[in-house]
Amino acid sequence: MHAVAIVAAAGSGSRLGADRPKALVPLAGRPLVCWAVDGLLAGGVAEVVVTVPAAERDAFAAVLPAAVRIVDGGSTRTASVRAGLAAAGPDADVVLVHDAARPLTPPDVVARVIAALAAGAPAVVPVLPVVDTTVLVDDDGAVVDAVPRAPLRRVQTPQGFARDVLERAYAALPDGAELTDDAAVVRAAGVRVETVRGDERAAKVTVPHDLTLAELAVTLDGTVTR
Ligand code: C5P
Repeated sequence: MHAVAIVAAAGSGSRLGADRPKALVPLAGRPLVCWAVDGLLAGGVAEVVVTVPAAERDAFAAVLPAAVRIVDGGSTRTASVRAGLAAAGPDADVVLVHDAARPLTPPDVVARVIAALAAGAPAVVPVLPVVDTTVLVDDDGAVVDAVPRAPLRRVQTPQGFARDVLERAYAALPDGAELTDDAAVVRAAGVRVETVRGDERAAKVTVPHDLTLAELAVTLDGTVTR
């Protein structure tokens, strides 16, 4: 099984208040995207494509390993993943799509996703339970109803797909359609999406507090050695 990873790294980082694309923001001195790529390779990925803001190609090339393919992303995450998928090499039979914004995703999570694909899943996502009481609110923010949380899951990345399944689903997606993750793209094409156990360390860095937590995790967690 030859797994290619597409790392979506073409976002701006505006919610992080950064002066550069989020994927280039340093965590313990190394750009987020480098941590993300390391985790994928350590988890069993053979090939990596990173989608970047077109104006920042050189900055990404300066920090990424030479074997990583760098392609221009699009104006939405969906467009960026589409561009990355088109640049995947011919050998890959499975595709993992990952957010650069999840720098500390443990290799074990990557390995679980690849193992599920090897066992025949057409699509698989890492998930975690919802631990907070979860409610629906109306337009004014008043609670309308509580949602039973037992069947709810939070979905992380990397999300894994049989290559032909993901390519067919993207080909069927209308131009301009914007979905928040790739599992939604294949579900729109009628594909069953399986789940494996995610990991709190795969949390997404979105706002400055997330970066503070990631810095703490690197400092305190002896298992993070990169
Ligand atoms: O904005 P958000 O954190 O949800 O983005 C998730 C991932 O998608 C990030 O790693 C970001 O760099 C990437 N992205 C992208 N192209 C865009 C927007 C976001 O590759 N146009």
